[in-house]
Amino acid sequence: MAFMKVRKAVFPAAGMGTRFLPATKATPKEMLPLVDKPLIQYGVEEAVAAGCEEIIIVTGRGKTTMEDHFDKSAELEASLEARGKTALLEVARSVSKLAKITYTRQAEALGLGHAVLQAKALVGDEPFAVILPDDIVDANVACMKQMVDAFNETQSSILGSEIVEGDAISAYGCLDCTPDANNPKLLAVKDMVEKPKPGTQPSQNAIIGRYILTPRIFEMLETITPGAGGELQLTDGIKALLQYEKVYGFTYEGKRHDAGDKLGFLKATVEFALKHDDLGPKFREWLKTFPI
Ligand code: G1P
Repeated sequence: MAFMKVRKAVFPAAGMGTRFLPATKATPKEMLPLVDKPLIQYGVEEAVAAGCEEIIIVTGRGKTTMEDHFDKSAELEASLEARGKTALLEVARSVSKLAKITYTRQAEALGLGHAVLQAKALVGDEPFAVILPDDIVDANVACMKQMVDAFNETQSSILGSEIVEGDAISAYGCLDCTPDANNPKLLAVKDMVEKPKPGTQPSQNAIIGRYILTPRIFEMLETITPGAGGELQLTDGIKALLQYEKVYGFTYEGKRHDAGDKLGFLKATVEFALKHDDLGPKFREWLKTFPI
């Protein structure tokens, strides 16, 4: 079989963001700013850093500000240019030049597996990345780049994975897996389960919101039935894929933040603000004086 390259990245972004109400009543959760960039931009930048040339965003009702964000804003650019604000002009321009982005809609919130299936026609017959924009991974080498490098070796589906201790694993997809004999970062997956009931988990290896999937996943997603929470689960589609192909877990280097959760978002905000070139030093000074 010819060498397969990951050129496309799918972003499921149709969810209602109920964990973040009321902020997400009229604003897509993907547009909440982490310091000065909306969450989804971090994910798109990660995909671009991994070599993806095409971004496919699966959206839903009330999500059009995402499209405006990545679109060229002629008015804003003209205004910044006229006022000689070249640095800001560059910031505005760079967002719309990040990548080729296409949008498709998920008409009903039937689950993550259903959301990914909506990208079938746009992805076609090639492997692709999936990035869940709630999961922000802070890493020296972009998490998806690390995974693409692993995919280039294995040419098999790869799921970002980390250890989640105790019953907290019940909020995740969970892998039944063994360490790969050749690559210490890879886990050979035998089985998987979405949101295992506490005490029934096969391991503490959680799936995080980073995937590289072979195109056969679409056939699997077309046949799955509602699973955990009554939703069409991506995990169930990947589990079905195991009958035909190898699937690996991947222990990435970096730190993940669950920015779709209020507390996770606050922690990510503080960490990213402290690392920010302009704001970091001043924020650090202020934090030191803040009475806790
Ligand atoms: C989804 C997936 C789950 C995965 C998680 C990672 O769950 O269904 O397998 O572990 O993302 O963030 P959700 O967070 O949408 O409930």
